[in-house]
Amino acid sequence: MKFSLKHAVIKYSDKIAINDVSLEANSGDMIFITGANGSGKSTLTKGIAGLLPLSSGTLERTQRMSYVPQIEEADKNFPAKVREIVITGRMRNGKLFYNNHDTEQANSAMKELGIYELADREIKTLSGGQLRRVFLARALCGEPELLLLDEPCAGLDAESHKILFEAINKVLSKGCAVLMVTHDNSDLDGIKAGRVITLSNGKIINERNS
Ligand SMILES: Nc1ncnc2c1ncn2[C@@H]1O[C@H](COP(=O)(O)OP(=O)(O)O)[C@@H](O)[C@H]1O
Ligand SMILES: [Mg+2]
Repeated sequence: MKFSLKHAVIKYSDKIAINDVSLEANSGDMIFITGANGSGKSTLTKGIAGLLPLSSGTLERTQRMSYVPQIEEADKNFPAKVREIVITGRMRNGKLFYNNHDTEQANSAMKELGIYELADREIKTLSGGQLRRVFLARALCGEPELLLLDEPCAGLDAESHKILFEAINKVLSKGCAVLMVTHDNSDLDGIKAGRVITLSNGKIINERNS
């Protein structure tokens, strides 16, 4: 089991944003989360990531989790170089310093996503597609067992799209579970088949196979 969410309720003050959602993922599972704007996709993803507390319900989850927020939530002016952002993916669970192995993992993630040439660029100089690849490289270099992606493809150019899909399919084949929020049904074609969960008003209203 990579995560198991049972009867989760998540609120912002008094507003219920996730209402009695249960969902589970095992090794190699692909879960797509769809639904209209405001249906609760990001809130659910943050709840699974542990960034928002559950008002009720339970969450069990692997510690080896990487989360990539919606691009709108990133501080694009944060003063850091690509390689500095990517290596933070190795720093989970209170780790303070990184070693040569961490540097190698970060380098190989940057190569896989085609951004190794950008390693010494400040992130504020990157295009949206390049920045998304930086965040995915950061997530992957942590060698996750669970990867949570909030709309990683919105507004991506074709080349970045292809590189992203290849990277997702590769971690799935290694047994990582992937949960990906998407608006776009065409995203389902490029990625290994899985479950498609549709949210409305914070509830699961449909589940089908992709
Ligand atoms: N920080 C917040 N404070 C209060 N309400 C929020 C906050 N973030 C999201 N919401 C509300 O919670 C609901 C679900 O939002 P969200 O999870 O962002 O939906 P989605 O990702 O599907 O567009 C919406 O009604 C939204 O307005
Ligand atoms: Mg969202």
